[in-house]
Amino acid sequence: MGSCFSAIRIKAESPPRDGLNSKNGSIEEKVLSGLSSKVSSRSMLISPQTEGEILLSTNLKNFSFIELRTATRNFRPDSVVGEGGFGSVFKGWIDEQTLEPTKPGTGLVIAVKRLNQESTQGHIEWLTEINYLGQLDHPNLVKLIGHSLEDDHRILVYEFLTKGSLDNHLFRRASYVRPLSWDVRMNIALDAAKGLAFLHSEEVDVIYRDFKTSNILLDSNYHAKLSDFGLAKDGPEGDKSHVSTRIMGTFGYAAPEYIATGHLTKKSDVYSFGVVLLEIMSGKRALDKNRPTGEHNLVDWAKPLLVSKRKISQVMDSRLDGQYPSREAMKVAALAIKCLSAEQKFRPTMDEVVRSLEQLKDSEDITASGVEKSQDHGNSSRSNRNGSKQHRRSNNESLNGEGSTNQTPSSASPIHT
Ligand SMILES: Nc1ncnc2c1ncn2[C@@H]1O[C@H](COP(=O)(O)OP(=O)(O)O)[C@@H](O)[C@H]1O
Ligand SMILES: [Mg+2]
Repeated sequence: MGSCFSAIRIKAESPPRDGLNSKNGSIEEKVLSGLSSKVSSRSMLISPQTEGEILLSTNLKNFSFIELRTATRNFRPDSVVGEGGFGSVFKGWIDEQTLEPTKPGTGLVIAVKRLNQESTQGHIEWLTEINYLGQLDHPNLVKLIGHSLEDDHRILVYEFLTKGSLDNHLFRRASYVRPLSWDVRMNIALDAAKGLAFLHSEEVDVIYRDFKTSNILLDSNYHAKLSDFGLAKDGPEGDKSHVSTRIMGTFGYAAPEYIATGHLTKKSDVYSFGVVLLEIMSGKRALDKNRPTGEHNLVDWAKPLLVSKRKISQVMDSRLDGQYPSREAMKVAALAIKCLSAEQKFRPTMDEVVRSLEQLKDSEDITASGVEKSQDHGNSSRSNRNGSKQHRRSNNESLNGEGSTNQTPSSASPIHT
């Protein structure tokens, strides 16, 4: 169970919604504030201008409220698999072909995110998520299947990721949660880095803005996918160095210069990646006021320890039980420190982060076997930084990522206050 100090969402004024017709999703005249309005020849993303255009520009299913009520057995409280800042996420079942609701336990398992009805900001986030996830396709991004907007009910339907979010695996101390091994942690870091690198690539050019462990989901094989695109933003236009935004995100993860100025860059995501890397190494939350004085902020506490080879072990998760190669821990510590550089220009790009983590795996493979193993580390989620077209979503795409499963869902993650 998460402490209420662990992740506090930075609140900001909601942008105006004049002219939005949230009742029927019809095409609106008004350009949505807070959403992409960039038309870029190099970007693979279409940049719809209105709510209606966004909903029409994807191949997502438009579910009725009744269909989703049936699929989730009337949004049964015991099928809640997560709580986020803007609502609850339920487990449900639909037919793989027709996408009609099915009997629980049969067909395709889905995650149904129902946004709090009173949340105005929620509407913008609902649309933003449809805009980005509806168009993007990558093995390290969660697949959005559909949406629903009826009266004030705003819902998103995703593939269900059996192992839930990374925060539950790292921070839960319940006896039934097995600690993640070092190798699994490094694979997760690499998968998540690939997801971010894909977003940052020239052809996608998106800043994720809310990179944190509760937004990293794990499938049955512990492959990681990024979810929750409600705060994502197009990268800066032309020669601009940053996007000016209202400050949104989560304390403990947001880059200091972004909090200070509202200037958002891809390097803000890199900083957040550094925080998550520290959480992965240490099994400690970015912020936790239940820790002793001086240790509340993970970055402030861990950074001085990580620069000293002898002290790195003090940062490492005791649940690893010393089962990690210290040379690797040192390299990951050095990478985290680079990502957390106060000055953006000293932070690596996400492509560089991916390369560093891949090299780590390569050297690990060499050490383990004495000979270099295949370049594909049993992870089919290798990102392709060249072929942008293949990341577009197509009509015929199978939604059967996880298939049906009997796994117990992860329970609620911390509610952002
Ligand atoms: N596709 C999914 N499969 C399994 N669990 C999910 C899925 N999507 C969300 N969850 C769970 O619900 C939590 C909140 O979801 P998220 O999309 O981050 O919502 P919010 O926008 O409210 O933060 C996640 O941390 C995770 O535990
Ligand atoms: Mg979230």
